Amino acid sequence: MSFDLKSYLSARRDLVEAELAKLGKLKALVHGDTGFAPGKLAEAMNYSLLAGGKRLRPILAMAGCEAMGKPPTMALHFGCAVEMIHTYSLIHDDLPAMDNDDFRRGRPTNHKVYGEALAILAGDALLTDAFALAAQSPAPADVLVEIIRELSFAAGSPGMVGGQVIDVEATGNKVDLDHLKVLHAMKTGALFDVSLRGGARLGGATDEQLGHIRTYAQALGLAFQIVDDVLDVTADLAQLGKDPGSDREAGKTTYVDLLGVEGAMAHARQVMDAGILALAPFGVHAEPLRALGNYTVERNN
Ligand code: IPE
Ligand code: IPE
Ligand code: MG
Ligand code: MG
Ligand code: MG
Repeated sequence: MSFDLKSYLSARRDLVEAELAKLGKLKALVHGDTGFAPGKLAEAMNYSLLAGGKRLRPILAMAGCEAMGKPPTMALHFGCAVEMIHTYSLIHDDLPAMDNDDFRRGRPTNHKVYGEALAILAGDALLTDAFALAAQSPAPADVLVEIIRELSFAAGSPGMVGGQVIDVEATGNKVDLDHLKVLHAMKTGALFDVSLRGGARLGGATDEQLGHIRTYAQALGLAFQIVDDVLDVTADLAQLGKDPGSDREAGKTTYVDLLGVEGAMAHARQVMDAGILALAPFGVHAEPLRALGNYTVERNN
């Protein structure tokens, strides 16, 4: 029987939503108790964190752990930590100084509701609190240090933030395919890579296994962002939950500009197929990762 991705996604999303809701309640309690302004901070953080989203990064962390034959819940804290960092990156990405977008996850963007100052601070808090959550992962100290070190790299200047800087600098300028590939690998690929490697490491992966996971992760990150570029052109607000047409409006070079919609999709497929081949050593345990790779290319939101 073929792998039932729909049930898998729904079961894993339930785990993520329950964990994030628990964190949200805790935060509201801690901040609310003081009776001072930070209650508003918890509200702004929860507004974006609990607004849905595909939850792909925590699901990949769990699937990375499962590929090692271990239970998904071992990677739940780590995956949710990546989701917090991802959510912060979206809040900041939408700010007027960056992409200046009005909708995200089907609602007005964080700064539209809470103002720019609180949106910036809610992002800062999500980023910082994420590391405390990652540190709660069920693992020996040496593994914890390693996953947290990699998380910092993926989120920081060599990863997502560095990629966002290249994106800002490239805006309005002509960019070639090689440049775009590096930009995508940093701004989007790094968080996928760390989700998968962190999950696999928590599942006891060896260095050799982590290498195979990285090959798959890099393909997935690139394919994911190519499809994000395509959907910006082909999908609508109801489907995406965020403003379409934002890239063109902002003067970004995308894979669609360089290859056209069909060419970009064919490229995403080719990249992902090659990435999926790297999962061969994990046999049947990697079925969720194979299905998630295909979903990344075939998704419509
Ligand atoms: C959007 O990420 C930002 C990119 C890196 C392209 P997602 O498409 O995973 O957004 P959510 O989490 O589902 O809202
Ligand atoms: C954002 O890329 C990647 C991040 C690090 C947030 P985009 O700017 O293309 O993401 P969307 O399309 O706004 O979700
Ligand atoms: Mg952007
Ligand atoms: Mg954006
Ligand atoms: Mg985009």
